[in-house]
Amino acid sequence: MSMTPSDVKATLSFSDGSPNMDLPIYKGSIGPDVIDIRKLYAQTGKFTYDPGFLSTASCNSTITYIDGDVGELLYRGYPIEQLATNCDFLETCYLLLNGELPNAGQKEEFVESVTNHTMVNEQMQFFLRGFRRDAHPMAVMTGLVGALSAFYHDSTDINNPEHRKIAAIRLIAKMPTLVAMAYKYTIGQPYVYPKNDLSYTENFMRMMFATPCEDYKPNEVLVRAMDRIFILHADHEQNASTSTVRLCGSSGTNPFAAIAAGVACLWGPAHGGANEAALNMLEEIQKNGGVEKIGDFIAQVKDKNSGVKLMGFGHRVYKNYDPRAKLMRETCHEVLNELGLQNDPMFKLAMALEKIALEDEYFVSRKLYPNVDFYSGIVQRAIGIPVPLFTAIFALARTVGWIAQLNEMIGDPEYKIGRPRQLFVGAEKRDVKPMAQR
Ligand code: SDX
Repeated sequence: MSMTPSDVKATLSFSDGSPNMDLPIYKGSIGPDVIDIRKLYAQTGKFTYDPGFLSTASCNSTITYIDGDVGELLYRGYPIEQLATNCDFLETCYLLLNGELPNAGQKEEFVESVTNHTMVNEQMQFFLRGFRRDAHPMAVMTGLVGALSAFYHDSTDINNPEHRKIAAIRLIAKMPTLVAMAYKYTIGQPYVYPKNDLSYTENFMRMMFATPCEDYKPNEVLVRAMDRIFILHADHEQNASTSTVRLCGSSGTNPFAAIAAGVACLWGPAHGGANEAALNMLEEIQKNGGVEKIGDFIAQVKDKNSGVKLMGFGHRVYKNYDPRAKLMRETCHEVLNELGLQNDPMFKLAMALEKIALEDEYFVSRKLYPNVDFYSGIVQRAIGIPVPLFTAIFALARTVGWIAQLNEMIGDPEYKIGRPRQLFVGAEKRDVKPMAQR
């Protein structure tokens, strides 16, 4: 699919009589049209100004579409609800990378290819030794993913489609191994090697929770829940970390380095770090009195001076309920029921908080709804994932989206290195004074 020129033009006029400028408009297959400003600076000597990219499309893409007003999320046209129910994570990876869901033969080949790349070079474990045992797993992951580029010189030419393909398989296959190693290191347990006779997500859960003393007996409900969490986090248009990967990759750097940049960006509490922050927020409310004290907390959030936000709420694009949050809440129910934790106080607190917020004018007027991070922490904690590892799990899942978006950019013959401009408001040219005159 490509951009379709619209019959409508945008005309830019200036009140000082400067010449008008016609700007072409392009239509996509769904969603807002775009005004093409690529020639604006050359013709007017002016830039546009949009620091948070609130009204800026950085690219055209065929991968993921979000309708924030209705709360819809499509991966290559398929609604997230259908993928989360009818597919597994590796099918979703195949879809994001190739544009179509795999048939049985294609799936078998893809699964075998990923399975055969799950081990990491034995040298990788020595990077971990440099970290303190209490290092945050995202600090470890940022280092480990970047370090992968030191081992695969046969697949670091991002302009080579074959290199892009094997690098994609290696990254998807090795992220679970690296996340499990980062976890084992922090708890002082030996690393568990991948086992090729397990499914992708069973393998991850075993590398996380098995020990040499006893093997991990997979619980099908928990494995399915983890796999669904991966699906829900796999891609999400041009979010901060995906835009970081695109900008980083646009310099021609290798895919491992570009994905490491995405890991670093995702760590932030306003982005992927929100799931850890949301659970810490719930634990804090619980410690300070639980459901009875929700009103006090909400009052703090409304007080701009408090700097307190309702973590797991709000979104730049969704101005309705994040469809992933709904699916995550359902997964919460399934996991907590399976584990006999129906009365989990954290889940009850989260649902009470959600109910109060969704009826409060402050949140309603700002269209603040639960996002993917609001419930994901509760279900991950119930599965046994430690809180500091939540964002590393997010990075594991998002790696396929980052790669698909990076490959789409590099595969576009029109792509250029990203180089934004600025509105300069600093000091005008001046001379350096000798030290005695400063
Ligand atoms: C993810 O982009 C993606 O797609 C990201 C993601 C993905 O899959 O890649 O979906 C994953 O990052 C989800 C978002 C996780 N972050 C959080 O849950 C952190 C809490 N949320 C906020 O930080 C905020 O909502 C953002 C960062 C998510 C969005 O911020 P925006 O779009 O810049 O909105 P804003 O800050 O301009 O907020 C608009 C108003 C402001 O109030 P006013 O100045 O109008 O009075 O809403 C308020 C904000 O103060 N507001 C909140 C709030 N979020 C926004 N107030 C309290 N609690 C919040 N969570």
